[in-house]
Amino acid sequence: MDRKALARISAFIYREFGIRVHDSRNYVLEAKLGRLLAKEGYPDLPLFCDRLESGEPGLRELLARYITTGHTFFFREKDHFAFLAETIKRKGPAEPLIWCAASSTGEEAYSISITLLEAGIANYRIVASDLNPGVLAKFNAGLYAKSCFREMPRDYQRRYFLKAEDDCLKPLPGLRSRISIKRINIMDRVSFPRRFDYIFCRNMLIYFDEKSRRQALGRLMENLETGGLLFLGHTEAILDAPPGLIRVKNAIYRKTI
Ligand SMILES: C[S@@+](CC[C@H](N)C(=O)[O-])C[C@H]1O[C@@H](n2cnc3c(N)ncnc32)[C@H](O)[C@@H]1O
Repeated sequence: MDRKALARISAFIYREFGIRVHDSRNYVLEAKLGRLLAKEGYPDLPLFCDRLESGEPGLRELLARYITTGHTFFFREKDHFAFLAETIKRKGPAEPLIWCAASSTGEEAYSISITLLEAGIANYRIVASDLNPGVLAKFNAGLYAKSCFREMPRDYQRRYFLKAEDDCLKPLPGLRSRISIKRINIMDRVSFPRRFDYIFCRNMLIYFDEKSRRQALGRLMENLETGGLLFLGHTEAILDAPPGLIRVKNAIYRKTI
């Protein structure tokens, strides 16, 4: 693959999405871009780069669709969900507002939802967002293969999901209706009508470098209530948290300002 074009596209991905592709992982990027060019009918990478950099509508989203990693499953790193439910039960708020900021196909948002309902907390809302329109289309379609359920108690599967086509399960409408799905790039400035009480942004920052991680944390903090909690992935603990963010436990941080 054309080296110059590969460097251009790596720079674009970093600048626009915050994702740093290390040289040692270039072969993975090449494979993903190869699929994009073949499936979308582009003869070569330099031409795709020219059109991307000229701001052609839809190409930024198309690129995000091919290059991100959306691996997820229900009840991943599940101690966080139990901690959230305990915290809400102990000290509210009455109508918790939760942002799942790198939701991928939705398993994380549904795990939060089920845990809260099981704890007797029903008055919550979840905004779930991701950069990749492809994973959000799957989230909206709401069909989950049995393999996504390996960490979910069987009993929950039975009570919160219905049998659907292709041997898949789909969430009950009452579960789905508490979640709003949006496309949001965390690197863009975004504001909501109300700040969130809790933000989950797990297993996304591992793809970022120090600079873009700081920028993303800034975006998340802008949208978090004072006293609110930020949940990162278990391997994403920040050693030198920015001012106004203190560690509570295991990749969970409280905003203090
Ligand atoms: C590995 S998945 C994590 C899913 C889920 N949070 C979990 O922990 O299982 C990472 C997600 O981050 C999303 N992502 C990457 N860069 C992003 C950005 N700049 N803004 C929003 N989402 C992004 C990807 O599209 C992908 O769906």
